[in-house]
Amino acid sequence: MILKMSNSEYLSKHLRIFSMSEPRPDYQYLMHSIYIGKTAIYKTPFFLDLNSAVNPHLVAVGMSGSGKTFFLKSLMIKENIINGSNVLVVDWSGEYLEAAKFVSGAVYKFGGEDGLNIIHLLCKKSEGINGLANLISKLIKADATEFKLIGSLLETYKNKFNGNFSIRELINEVKKSEGGQLYYKLSMLHESGLFDGKMRVNLYDFFKGFNDINLSTLNGSIKLALADIIFKSMMELMPDFGISNSIKNIIVVDEAWKIINPMQDIGKLFRESRKYGFAIFIATQLIEDINNEIISNSAHIAIFKLRNQADYDIIRGVRLFSEYDISRMNALRVGSCFMSVLTKNSGSKSFLISHIDGLQVEFFEIKGEIMNYPINLQKFSEYLEGIGIARIEINRIMEHITESDKILELEKIISILSNSGLSRADILVSLRLFGIPDIEIVKAYNRLKKVHFNVL
Ligand SMILES: Nc1ncnc2c1ncn2[C@@H]1O[C@H](COP(=O)(O)OP(=O)(O)OP(=O)(O)O)[C@@H](O)[C@H]1O
Ligand SMILES: [Mg+2]
Repeated sequence: MILKMSNSEYLSKHLRIFSMSEPRPDYQYLMHSIYIGKTAIYKTPFFLDLNSAVNPHLVAVGMSGSGKTFFLKSLMIKENIINGSNVLVVDWSGEYLEAAKFVSGAVYKFGGEDGLNIIHLLCKKSEGINGLANLISKLIKADATEFKLIGSLLETYKNKFNGNFSIRELINEVKKSEGGQLYYKLSMLHESGLFDGKMRVNLYDFFKGFNDINLSTLNGSIKLALADIIFKSMMELMPDFGISNSIKNIIVVDEAWKIINPMQDIGKLFRESRKYGFAIFIATQLIEDINNEIISNSAHIAIFKLRNQADYDIIRGVRLFSEYDISRMNALRVGSCFMSVLTKNSGSKSFLISHIDGLQVEFFEIKGEIMNYPINLQKFSEYLEGIGIARIEINRIMEHITESDKILELEKIISILSNSGLSRADILVSLRLFGIPDIEIVKAYNRLKKVHFNVL
């Protein structure tokens, strides 16, 4: 028997339909969600809503320079402005100071008139001889003998401290009685200024508005011990905020690879935080640091450009992404990422976000002969886009600026712009718009003529 069917019917029976790896966005939660960027396939805007996921935590992984910090900065600024979330940044290298300034947040460091003091910060925990001896011992990683000596000296000389502990006094006593290694360790602690600050700020105050604890000036081992103490203390105070089913506070730890490994209770921290309305955002370069406990406790995983094949193999092992998704990860560039979200209503979704559309609060400087001129990176990048420079070219320029530690000679900027196809007149207008005086531009062209005669 001959079966008659139309061409279109025949085609529809034989065409294999593949579903695209990009689910439709869920607009139900748009009110509180944060715009991240456009998805790669349908170019639909992708929004993140911390409350619609099974937990609010977020992990960003990727190689150095891939865009993790930029992403976290944009996300937390928007969370703070749009949802009124309190944000605490444990700022390892002082990278978030501009972000804090942008939202009129507070930046804290240890020591000095306007600085933090660890005793006030930890409230009751550091009170009494025992609390103090424990705290000091943890910070300097004291052994059992040293711990005992610190305790007994604090006990003997407690009248001397008279409620106002001075680490210098303790060091003097140690010098008399033992000296050596403990004396050296305590001197390092003294230098860190952890006990010197005059501000009476405690951990609770960190969850009011946007706060940045700048740890960049501290010595490495003390910094690690301090971060550990701060995290443990935060876990203890969380129940005081009460059980909450919406997110009110965000704790951000960038370069988490430096503190994750030594931390034992990270899984517990993630679980407890969620219960009390705290979200934890972490960024790390080392994918091997993201252990199963972290993966299973973070509903948002952002994969940025990875270092090498071994990293992609680890991602494969995590089983969050399909083989197809993993094959597309090779195409990740600075500022693009693969995002997996485990939602309450529609299970797991993954999206390739082609460009994270962030708030650029960074500046770079153009070095002239008379002075340096600060330029907002975001405005500069938008301007270049506006005059028709291709995105790929702009990314190249941005990479160049980052590589030069954000200070670029005016003639370098001129050659970059010229190599990107801008005419001499366009360059002149652009530089004037960014406040560079004509005299500097003329001088820079003169220098260029001498150095690279054939560049322009
Ligand atoms: N989506 C983006 N749009 C515009 N610029 C971006 C974007 N993502 C990153 N950049 C720029 O690329 C540079 C590197 O990004 P970023 O500092 O976020 O990298 P990172 O992954 O945090 O690196 P590291 O691990 O070394 O800290 C920065 O100058 C940043 O401004
Ligand atoms: Mg970073």
